[in-house]
Amino acid sequence: MRTLPGGSRTFSRTNSVEPALRTAAIRGPRRPLSKRDDRRNAGPAGRSLVLARVSCKNRPAMVDSDRHWIRFGQFDPYLKTVKTLDPYKLDPTLTPSSEFYFESGERYLTDLFGEIGRCMAPGFRPRRAVDFGCSVGRIAVPLAARCESMIGVDISPDALAEAERNAAHFRVTNAQWVLSDDDLSRIDGPVDLFHSYNVLQHLPVSRGLAIIRRALALLSPAGVLAIHVPYADLASGARRAINWAQAHVPGIGQLANVARGRPRDYPHMLMNPYDIGAIFSILRDRGCERVHCRFIEQQRYPGAIVIAQVPSDRAPQARSKATTDQTSA
Ligand SMILES: C[S@@+](CC[C@H](N)C(=O)[O-])C[C@H]1O[C@@H](n2cnc3c(N)ncnc32)[C@H](O)[C@@H]1O
Repeated sequence: MRTLPGGSRTFSRTNSVEPALRTAAIRGPRRPLSKRDDRRNAGPAGRSLVLARVSCKNRPAMVDSDRHWIRFGQFDPYLKTVKTLDPYKLDPTLTPSSEFYFESGERYLTDLFGEIGRCMAPGFRPRRAVDFGCSVGRIAVPLAARCESMIGVDISPDALAEAERNAAHFRVTNAQWVLSDDDLSRIDGPVDLFHSYNVLQHLPVSRGLAIIRRALALLSPAGVLAIHVPYADLASGARRAINWAQAHVPGIGQLANVARGRPRDYPHMLMNPYDIGAIFSILRDRGCERVHCRFIEQQRYPGAIVIAQVPSDRAPQARSKATTDQTSA
């Protein structure tokens, strides 16, 4: 059991652990990213970091968000180079150390579970939980202490490796760390809680909505979905046009990086607001009868944590297991 700075928070495991999950495991990608992917995605000068995908079937040219997040995980898994407006990270009372992240994650979960209990599912205690976009485990590590087993999912292998180290540091033994794919194919359902915070806005909206649908399909009867999404972009039209060009026009992102004094290949962070109505439709189609939203003030991108519970009589949909999973030490 470890105590975080401040002494008030501890992450200890008191529940029994499923034998299969005793060892934290990072499972390998279903299709490893190849050099060919790099070349295909490279900018006009063939640079190593992809700034724009210039031709893509059925999709407008757009930053390859996965690749950029993989890059973030390599050089800045704690996102120290990112100016964040996240109210759960900007707490001046917290120690600015890496453990600061876990304090803020625990505080976030206290609010979230309080809300789920009050508004949706009194006494909610998930047996199996997923944290989608878990990064270094800021929320996933303390989440593991609240359930029997926790699956942290992320697109960045380096962030997952750091999460595994952090879990070991806090003696969390019921966590599994798996690489993400849009089918969520490495999550063996059903799960009682599918959670995601500050992640879906970084994906193209169509992908994010598809992931929400799959997440709902993974939930056990009476399982809970708790996802954060921004629902608006309050920037001026000019600002948004510049951001669009950075994401879609080859070379503009690099120029913007240089202008801001950053390395030219500094990754681009997509920020996509969601149509809350589209999310409500998905929830309604899945039989959710009530939805609870809490607003999260994030200045330019006001967001909401959307909490919904699937009906208790609904059987989880069958899932196919990835066949090429690998387990690393
Ligand atoms: C801003 S961080 C938030 C991390 C964590 N949820 C938290 O609040 O501390 C966004 C995370 O989403 C991950 N991410 C981005 N695209 C993803 C995808 N397609 N699937 C899973 N995770 C993704 C990134 O690698 C990064 O770790």
